[in-house]
Formats: sequence, structure tokens, C-alpha cells
Amino acid sequence: MQGGLVAFPTETVYGLGADAASRAAVAKIYEAKGRPSSHPVIVHIAKPEDMAAWCQDIPDQVWALARAFWPGPLTLILKRHVAVDASVSGGQDTIGVRCPSHPVAQALLIKFAELKAAAGQPRAGVAAPSANRFGRVSPTQADHVRTEFASMWPDGLLVLDGGDSEVGIESTIVDLSGVQNGLSPALLRPGAISLEALQSVLGCPVTGHTAQSPRVSGSLKAHYAPFTPLILCVEHKLEDCVRDWLDTHEGNVAVLLRSDRQLPLDRVHLIRMPMMPAAYARALYATLRRVDESGVSVVIAEQVPDEPDWMGVRDRMNRAAAAFEGNSSQT
Ligand code: TXA
Ligand code: MG
Repeated sequence: MQGGLVAFPTETVYGLGADAASRAAVAKIYEAKGRPSSHPVIVHIAKPEDMAAWCQDIPDQVWALARAFWPGPLTLILKRHVAVDASVSGGQDTIGVRCPSHPVAQALLIKFAELKAAAGQPRAGVAAPSANRFGRVSPTQADHVRTEFASMWPDGLLVLDGGDSEVGIESTIVDLSGVQNGLSPALLRPGAISLEALQSVLGCPVTGHTAQSPRVSGSLKAHYAPFTPLILCVEHKLEDCVRDWLDTHEGNVAVLLRSDRQLPLDRVHLIRMPMMPAAYARALYATLRRVDESGVSVVIAEQVPDEPDWMGVRDRMNRAAAAFEGNSSQT
């Protein structure tokens, strides 16, 4: 890495990594993504114990979460260690840490920690946001990353290819930075690790996003958006919704649906999505990217169930739809 950037696979999405201890390296991430420097990035670590180099005042409950879910798709927001430069956390006094499970990410992190240790620098971590331009959908394949940054680095960015991301949406984020001051843990971003699973390990309620919660760029209303406008529609109104759109617009429509219903309409490309939430999450971003490439004018997607296991997917789809002004989602 040596002060540069490397894109690497994780089980959630691909990350754009840099030495988290180097202010200059972290600045390159912000520049490449076009991301405001006030937005914090996650520090990826090789093993749970490495948390202590980046965080302080770690509540006991955090170790229980780490034992239950790391390595894996969970990010913890904790108090930033006083010796850690604030550039990685967008100037905030908290820091996001995650220990990913993907074998390529693990190999990268372990090797990086060895190199750092050999150089007498025990604090080893890779700062990595999702490897997409600010506000766009995250990449779940190496090719997505290459496409995303092709104009910026025509000669190529170093992308470690680890195949398709297994989870497909970004990690669950839980804020525990206020626990020692009596605040409840808060879910800042839903993901593959459910609220119920977190609560059962913590043995206490986990609240939603509150006014006291730290800023999360992924919690901006319009985030994770494809280029093609996305409209969400309840299943039983889907056909009416598609017909209405066709009656009033030119161009083609992509329709994302889980049911096996037919839509015998011209100018409609049906895309069958998986029935189960984990498989749907795995397919979602790659599908939205394919829709962007297909040249359709709009994508109309069947709403996914309002059930705990669907929380992560619903969150991403609601945000993607919210990115298009004047696009009222038909609930
Ligand atoms: O699955 C993932 O988390 C992927 C892979 C690469 O690990 N990373 C990812 O990073 O999604 P990014 O930067 O695209 O999203 C991380 C989110 C952002 O919304 C950021 O604001 C939030 O984590 N975050 C990071 N540090 C934080 C902090 N100290 N306080 C509050 N939010 C934080
Ligand atoms: Mg992101």
C-alpha cells in the first residue's frame, strides 16, 4: 500500500483502502471518492484485539459483539483513541472499526500488520469506504470498481479480485460510543446482522438513529443511488404503476420483481429477483448497475417485505429511490 490506494474485496462490498494511520493516504481516499472530508471512514483490522489500538474506553459489551460477529459484516462505532489522527473519522471523536471475513481482505490486513510491525509501527489498520464514487451504489465485483474509477485512473487502480461479494450490501453499523455515558447502543445502518441478533448478544435494546447519533454519510436520505431513476411500488399496484409510467413517458422500463407474475406489456424488461433476503441483497447492486448499462429510462421495483430480515435491503432501496427528486414512491 505504501501511502497509496488499493481496492480489495470484503464479504459485504469492495473497499477502497489506504493506510489508516497516514493522514496523506486517507486524504487520497477522500479525493478519489469525491467525498466530503467531514465524512468518517471505517478502519479495517485483522483481528478483534487490534481494536484497542484505534479505540479507547471500550465497553465490555463490545467484546461480546466482536466474539459473536467478527470476522464479519459488522462495524462498531467507538471512542477514537486519543493518539489516532482525526482525519480518519472526519474530525469526530468516534471511530468506526470492522474486522472483515473475506479471505483476501484478511490476507491483506494480516500482511499489512506484519509490515507495520516490522517497521516498528504497531497501529495497523486499513481505512476503507466502499470503492465507489460518493453517493453511488457500492461495488460487489472487481469490475464494478474498475468501471467506477476508469476515468480517474485510465492506467488502472490496483484492484484485488476476490469474486462476487457474498453479502452484497454494506455492513451493519452499531454505535456504542455513548454506552459508557448511559446511552443505548444505536443502529446507524441496517445490514446482514439483524437488530434481533445484536440485541440478543448485547442483552439490551438497540435504538434506531437518534439526534445524538454521529453523522453517517450512508444515512443521508439520498444515498446508494443508481443513475437510472428508481420507483418503488407495492406488489398489488405494480402493473398499474408500470402502465401509468408507460402511458406518460417514452423509453423502456426495467421491472424488478420477486413474484413469478407476468407483465405482458411492451417496452418492459422483467428482471426476476430472489425471494429470500440474503440472496436479494447479494444481487441488488449488480442488478442496479446492469440496469444503468441497459439504457432503460426508469426502474420500477416491487417493494420488499416490511420484515426484520429485509431491513437492510429495504433501507438501501428506499434511499436509492429517494435520490430522485419528485419521484414519489408508491407505497
Ligand atoms: O461493509 C462496509 O462497511 C464497507 C466495506 C468496504 O467494509 N464499507 C463501507 O464504507 O460501507 P463507507 O465509507 O461507504 O460507509 C461507512 C459508513 C459511512 O456512512 C460512515 O459515515 C460511517 O460508516 N462511519 C464510519 N465511521 C464513523 C464514525 N466514527 N461515526 C459515525 N459513522 C461512521
Ligand atoms: Mg459507501
